[in-house]
Amino acid sequence: MSTQTMEETKLVKSELLKDQVAIVTGSGRGIGLAIAKRLAAAGATAVITDLTQESADAGAKEITDLGFKAHGAVCNVTDVASVEKMAEEIMAKFGKINILVNNAGITKDTLFMRMKLEDWSAVIETNLTSIFKVTQAVIKHMSKANYGRIVNIASVIGMHGNMGQANYAASKAGAIALSKTIAKEYASRNITCNAVAPGFIDTAMTQKLKPEVKDQYMKFIPLGRFGQPEDVAEAVFFFASGGSYVTGQTIVVDGGMFM
Ligand SMILES: NC(=O)c1ccc[n+]([C@@H]2O[C@H](COP(=O)([O-])OP(=O)(O)OC[C@H]3O[C@@H](n4cnc5c(N)ncnc54)[C@H](O)[C@@H]3O)[C@@H](O)[C@H]2O)c1
Repeated sequence: MSTQTMEETKLVKSELLKDQVAIVTGSGRGIGLAIAKRLAAAGATAVITDLTQESADAGAKEITDLGFKAHGAVCNVTDVASVEKMAEEIMAKFGKINILVNNAGITKDTLFMRMKLEDWSAVIETNLTSIFKVTQAVIKHMSKANYGRIVNIASVIGMHGNMGQANYAASKAGAIALSKTIAKEYASRNITCNAVAPGFIDTAMTQKLKPEVKDQYMKFIPLGRFGQPEDVAEAVFFFASGGSYVTGQTIVVDGGMFM
């Protein structure tokens, strides 16, 4: 099946998430945009947030062009003021936030010995502390409504480590542990919190890797292909739409690389 056909199949319209509002951070492109499309196809209003209004609006337009509901908003996940402004704007506009997907993330790879503190801090801030900031701004509204679905995008690297990715591995391991803690603290409020740990997914983040590094990864992927953003979106959709008795879990989406 071609990627295009796969995406079309998965975007069959349903009403499972009708009237729900879903915020996806860093969703102007890549995995975040695929997640937002998947949720919107199921009837949710997808709130596309990213560093600039232009990229948020461009992502939202892709979704509305498909006939689904979307809204673009600026949100720099490292900046508390920006995060709180976005959350309050969404509450004022839609009156609720049912689903939050903490997806925004970056890499700044280099061997541990050469890693500068600023590279460490930037990755921890963007990938981990951001989940603290965005979830704190949103979960109080979910708590009042006695309902919420939170999904954090981690990585298999957070479970296994990787040469040259000390900052990234630590941030993603933190995301998994934070998900479990939020799951425990908010279960009584009918809020689930789970993580999705992708392996090698074909996006701008991995397109910058050298061909020999990609070849090396491919050798260890039993399913024989790199993942597509839609593969990750499918796992997020499970946590966001069903799975009401599943919390504090991590689904690995890696083509079998780390089984
Ligand atoms: N691509 C992979 O192989 C892979 C594997 C495992 C996990 N992940 C994770 O999936 C998520 C999405 O990655 P992707 O591959 O789509 O990457 P990407 O680089 O294509 O997209 C990342 C998005 O995050 C946004 N972003 C970056 N910093 C931000 C900030 N401070 N505030 C708001 N938005 C910000 C970017 O503008 C971009 O739209 C990340 O958390 C990444 O760590 C990716």
